[in-house]
Amino acid sequence: MEAEVVRMSCTLFHGGPNSCGAVTSGGTESILMACKAYRDMAYDRGIKYPEIVAPLSVHAAFDKAAHYFRMKLVHVPLDKKTMKVDVKAMRRAINKNTAMLVCSAPQFPHGIIDPIEEVAKLALRYSLPLHVDACLGGFLIVFMAKAGYPLAPYDFRVKGVTSISADTHKYGYAPKGSSVILYSDKKYRHYQYFVAPDWQGGIYASPSVAGSRPGGIIAACWATMMHIGENGYIDATKKIISTARKIKTETSKIKGVFVFGDPEVSVVAIGSNEFDIFRLSNALTTKGWNLNSLQYPSSIHICCTVLHTQKGVADQFVNDVKEQVAIILKNPKEKTTGMGAIYGMAQSIPDRSMVTEISRGFLDCLYSTEVSLSNTSHMNGNGKAHH
Ligand SMILES: Cc1ncc(COP(=O)(O)O)c(C=O)c1O
Repeated sequence: MEAEVVRMSCTLFHGGPNSCGAVTSGGTESILMACKAYRDMAYDRGIKYPEIVAPLSVHAAFDKAAHYFRMKLVHVPLDKKTMKVDVKAMRRAINKNTAMLVCSAPQFPHGIIDPIEEVAKLALRYSLPLHVDACLGGFLIVFMAKAGYPLAPYDFRVKGVTSISADTHKYGYAPKGSSVILYSDKKYRHYQYFVAPDWQGGIYASPSVAGSRPGGIIAACWATMMHIGENGYIDATKKIISTARKIKTETSKIKGVFVFGDPEVSVVAIGSNEFDIFRLSNALTTKGWNLNSLQYPSSIHICCTVLHTQKGVADQFVNDVKEQVAIILKNPKEKTTGMGAIYGMAQSIPDRSMVTEISRGFLDCLYSTEVSLSNTSHMNGNGKAHH
């Protein structure tokens, strides 16, 4: 089943007869595997301190990979108007330690697809592998042409693209815990594998980070793909993209806010030059919307799924934005309160180690099983919570 999930995915991304891959536990693991493969390839080429050259907008999983695998992540700035990576700056960031180049299709913050064909030319010129992170929208973009929304080439059709990550557990609609990492050629996948030939427990050969892996999730992923089928995916893609395009077009018309770049897939990011955009996310929360908050620059985004394609949802969103922006514009300089203020404050703290420390505390809280004293009425005689 894993082999078939990989083969179906390779076909969707126009991989040739030598294309291959593996199923992982999620987008992050797929990205970790590509970085690990290219790091080991760089070691083979005699590079001691391998560097990942990636747009500023790439997912934090690349920071994680750099941290785990002792690589250096070199962030390349974006074109401020299009939010696509600045290709000239990317060329300047390449040096003798460069192990890999990265593009996103699309990136998480603003839903923008990087100029993959141009970056692929750099990859070929400097003989570097190019990873395309299609974790978020991979299982939308492969169906967009057939859904009536053609895109510039982004996959193995582009000479120079050597790997692609795409999450079956996002728009593949499989249960959480599955993703694919694909390579244009088996020689790259070999660098991903780990083999301990001398272990007392036997020869240990493993494709990815995990040891034991969940067969149930892989089976559920395979079954989901077979059940939905190409027509089901095309239909869902058509609905999602038309909804996102409507939100993009209508939101762009609202005075006081703007849409970042020209998003072509399912994410639409909104900013403002006139007021603190986090005030809008606060206001939308009171209307029942829950948008992601982004930083550097301050923005919020909506990520459209099948749920948003129901009749009236997109119109309701646009109307709520229109209404709330009009209210905010009556007093554009008013102070931001609540969660919005926390986001604004967090990005303005110059000492990032403080933000890191507070975030660690937050994660600790998630693991806390302590019951607060105000809840003691729910406890039994032993001081244990009933539920
Ligand atoms: C562009 C992109 N890459 C990678 C990931 C990481 O995926 P996961 O959360 O499955 O590890 C995400 C998640 O949102 C993403 O949007």
